[in-house]
Amino acid sequence: MLKEKPVNKTNPAAHVTPAEYGRVYIETFGCQMNVSDSQVAVSVLKKKGLEVTDNIGEADVILVNTCSIRENAEKRVWGRLQVFAGEKKRRPGVIVGVIGCMAERLKSQLLDNSATVDIVAGPDAYRKLPELIEEASSGQQAINVLLSREETYADIEPVRSGKNNVTAFVSIMRGCNNFCSYCVVPFTRGRERSRAPSTILGEVRTLIENGYKEVTLLGQNVNSYRWTDSQGDEVMDFPELIEKVALLSPDLRVRFSTSHPKDISDKLLYTIAAHKNICKHIHLPVQSGSSRILKLMNRAYTRESYMERINAVKTIIPGCTVTTDIIAGFCSETEKDHQQTISLIKEAGFDFAFMFKYSERPGTPAGDKLTDDVAEEVKTRRLNEIIELQNSLSAESKKNDLGKVYKVLAESFSKKSENELFGRTSHNKSAVFPKQNYQPGDYVNVKITGHTSATLIGCPEKTLSPVL
Ligand code: 5AD
Ligand code: SF4
Repeated sequence: MLKEKPVNKTNPAAHVTPAEYGRVYIETFGCQMNVSDSQVAVSVLKKKGLEVTDNIGEADVILVNTCSIRENAEKRVWGRLQVFAGEKKRRPGVIVGVIGCMAERLKSQLLDNSATVDIVAGPDAYRKLPELIEEASSGQQAINVLLSREETYADIEPVRSGKNNVTAFVSIMRGCNNFCSYCVVPFTRGRERSRAPSTILGEVRTLIENGYKEVTLLGQNVNSYRWTDSQGDEVMDFPELIEKVALLSPDLRVRFSTSHPKDISDKLLYTIAAHKNICKHIHLPVQSGSSRILKLMNRAYTRESYMERINAVKTIIPGCTVTTDIIAGFCSETEKDHQQTISLIKEAGFDFAFMFKYSERPGTPAGDKLTDDVAEEVKTRRLNEIIELQNSLSAESKKNDLGKVYKVLAESFSKKSENELFGRTSHNKSAVFPKQNYQPGDYVNVKITGHTSATLIGCPEKTLSPVL
């Protein structure tokens, strides 16, 4: 462990190399894409000789990969920075870097915290982390927040040191061109770009060789994945890509996230239906049930066209689960708009939802041009009504699973007991069951016997074949 900032002995004025900085500790906030990005950042640093540590007390470099999606997400990071400041006081010389969306959005504000923050690196600057560490080691603050139109980290193999070696995220594209009016992502992650299919398929092949059993293809809007070759001829869209991934091995489960309702095509739905190993679950964020609010949100669909897509999912992929994201209390939302969200939730019958209060983001179209005029207590009340309704729908969805047998991919031991395994169904429902002779990585036919609010409970069932 380095107690003090390392000094180049022959020339004290020279920078130390990143490898001399020994150990890096990385904390990740936010979405799955951030989890995947942290694995890219670690890969870049390991190549330069740094080691990863889970123990902040022995880290020479502390990185925090950040999220700007809501104000609360940023508040949590500011809180962590205070903890890192304490670490720096105890061990001067430790380098603290803020990376990801907050770095992009709040660059100068972060640099103003010169006692704590040494590095600020945006989502497209991770290849430069070794140089930034080197620069910071000489006592200067180092920044790179350039957004790229091309960077996909296509050639970098992420270092996956997650909880299990069974499931993995594979990033297939970066950025977003949709500019939903409330959303900071197009500004923090830049323009949409797709990763070359050969590198995606190569990464999945390696994962299969290493025993992984499930991949989740990640992008802000995977349906607009489009790889065009250098001649400008379109060579692959998302349904074709996911089919190619699914065909790599029948033993590999394939998931994807996230779909935009305006772009989810029948071609994709038929592809999901045609392949047993593409999971029968679609996350389709609706945000609101009011067409007026959807227009203000710049979502490019109406309540009716969203419901048409839900019906297409249910017709083309019978039994497919649908989950969603909902925002309560967007600018100018009336009680009538809110009731339309409530009725849409019932009509769509979501199996699960992520539910949020609208959080104004400076610099977004809504932040700049609309008024955040729904009172905090009204937002809270509407959110609670949405949560209460969704909880009852989620419970109903699980009740319908009682007595059924599902093929569950065991991912890890359950948090509560080494004698139980935790896994997920094709429908993306969590399940725990007695371990018996199974282990993480096994597909287990599990008969559902009960459920808690978040998890199915079951028992391995050797004789019955699964419904899915
Ligand atoms: N306020 C609240 N929720 C937001 N989301 C994105 N931006 C905001 C915001 N400003 C939610 C959306 C999106 C999910 C990832 O986060 O529901 O689908
Ligand atoms: Fe944000 Fe909309 Fe892009 Fe999703 S699709 S990342 S909500 S702008």
